[in-house]
Amino acid sequence: MNRLPKLKIGKHVSENPIMQGGMGVKISGPKLAGAVASNGGIGTIASVGLACDHPQFNGKNYFDVNEIALAEAVETARDTAPGGVLAVNCMVALMDYDRQVKSACRAGVDMIVSGAGLPMKLPEYTKDFPDVALVPIVSSVKAADLIIRKWGKLYDRLPDALVVETPLFAGGHLGATKMEHVNDPAFSLESVVPDLVKYLDEVVKADVPVIAAGGIWDRSDIDRAFALGARGVQMGTRFACTEEGDASMRFKQAFLDATEDDVVVIMSPVGIPGRALRNPFAAKYIDGHVDSKPCLAACLSHCTYLKNRTTFCIAGALVDAYTGDWDTGLFFCGSNVSRCTKIEKVSDIFKELLGDQD
Ligand SMILES: Cc1cc2nc3c(=O)[nH]c(=O)nc-3n(C[C@H](O)[C@H](O)[C@H](O)COP(=O)(O)O)c2cc1C
Repeated sequence: MNRLPKLKIGKHVSENPIMQGGMGVKISGPKLAGAVASNGGIGTIASVGLACDHPQFNGKNYFDVNEIALAEAVETARDTAPGGVLAVNCMVALMDYDRQVKSACRAGVDMIVSGAGLPMKLPEYTKDFPDVALVPIVSSVKAADLIIRKWGKLYDRLPDALVVETPLFAGGHLGATKMEHVNDPAFSLESVVPDLVKYLDEVVKADVPVIAAGGIWDRSDIDRAFALGARGVQMGTRFACTEEGDASMRFKQAFLDATEDDVVVIMSPVGIPGRALRNPFAAKYIDGHVDSKPCLAACLSHCTYLKNRTTFCIAGALVDAYTGDWDTGLFFCGSNVSRCTKIEKVSDIFKELLGDQD
């Protein structure tokens, strides 16, 4: 196997161009992110919902405790991976997006990765932390162009890298506003990555690395992404089902049990499609009605459950998946989930992906 190149994002250099995707709620916490970063990849803590089981959460102080819990998570991951590269994934759609971004920066994270909406104001929220790299997640050249124009005009700043996440295979919320886009080949990595690389070279004329996400599992997937022009990959599902993965054993067991036919795409209360396992909860929702937990904390800037009590409280359902309630949880997963046949060690995944480096 050829040695994979290092990945430089802003001022931060990752030994290996492999990034672990942020996975909420609490699927990628400090344990997983720290393990990935200490194995020479980029470890990512998902910032969403960290207050849910924090001892200081009293039902009323969700946003304050989120901030505290995120800082604690960054510190814990940093203890595991002192010299490693650590990111926090903050979803634009969250009510406390700006607070989470600032809390992560204050805690000393190396980069903010941001999707589920276009992170138009991200440079403003991080202006006191110029060394923090900013990495938007996009699914099209159009989205990248909108961000780049706006950031250029308002902040004189470029993204330090761009993650292209394809809705065709990725887990969780998908970068597609409409259901019919989820399987549209126009949003495949094969289509978007080369176009984005060309746009960055020829139009923006800047050296912004592109990272491919969605459906990356083994070395052949990485090599294919690199052949398209990517300089890194982001992987979610495979890292979720690891010893170091922060989710409960029941969550990981659901991944081990999953077959290809168990994967569904639902319209999330956020208003965008999301890929998940067809468990009793998802099946009832698809059939027309599911009982919801009460709204946890009005955590989203747009939520159909908060607005008219249709759909369900997604925070509650994701917390239930994290803790392992098969009947009431929403188990986000990528389309590769049926490839999870054992709970792996993060270091073994790196060994397999990198091969003999010398
Ligand atoms: C359980 C789960 C939760 C996820 N949660 C988030 C999230 O909170 N924010 C985000 O930007 N992406 C989220 N994702 C997407 C991943 O970060 C990653 O980009 C994607 O899953 C890559 O595709 P793969 O799973 O095929 O490797 C999630 C994915 C999974 C499987």
